Amino acid sequence: MKVIGINGSPRRNWNTATLIGDALDGASEAGAETEMYDLYDLDFKGCTSCFACKRIGLEDHRCAMRDGLTPVLEAVREADVVVIGSPIYFNGLSAMTDAFLERLLFPYVSYGNGPTFCRHPVLPAFIYTMNITEAQLEHFGIDINRFRRFMRRNLGHEPEELYCYNTWQYPDYDRYEHQIFDMESKRLQREEQFPKDREAARALGARLAGKCGSP
Ligand SMILES: Cc1cc2nc3c(=O)[nH]c(=O)nc-3n(C[C@H](O)[C@H](O)[C@H](O)COP(=O)(O)O)c2cc1C
Repeated sequence: MKVIGINGSPRRNWNTATLIGDALDGASEAGAETEMYDLYDLDFKGCTSCFACKRIGLEDHRCAMRDGLTPVLEAVREADVVVIGSPIYFNGLSAMTDAFLERLLFPYVSYGNGPTFCRHPVLPAFIYTMNITEAQLEHFGIDINRFRRFMRRNLGHEPEELYCYNTWQYPDYDRYEHQIFDMESKRLQREEQFPKDREAARALGARLAGKCGSP
């Protein structure tokens, strides 16, 4: 059983990467083989609209682009679970997470009569980290719904989701602007809520790995 982590944050050791790492640890404890990819370390583009994946008569509808993302797409095709983590940027996913999802999902989208070209369903999960608080989410909203339907149709499942709010953004708030933040609530989030989010991520990884059965 294989569980892949995809870090859509440019930071390799911060909130998003930490939670993905926890999910992979949980999966590993449940017996999975795990692998993590940092999208910002890779040289790749989003879909270039070549439509090679829509040619008639293809045995296998794969992305024809060859770049730093190619091995990641191949790994996801073989995986049982993919845990995608993204910071929220301007109410949506990070640019590299968006580009990754274009490349992952579009080759599976059928313009013919078939529902999808996906031959090996994979269980997806999303981990979102963001600066806003849970209470602010209702007011600001985040634009992440559009991928749920495509995942259900093309990967075979809707993603499970984990939200991490009010994240600690800088190593040292005294050295950066922070006047608009309630620092007491940030401190509480960091010291009390973030450890709980980490536990939730670990449980998510274990649960998803458990759904796929033994290796
Ligand atoms: C370019 C940019 C845009 C951001 N936009 C938002 C936003 O719209 N809403 C929000 O809640 N946080 C926003 N943030 C904050 C990040 O989502 C948050 O700090 C996140 O936890 C960072 O993840 P990381 O620590 O894994 O890098 C933004 C940060 C950056 C750098």
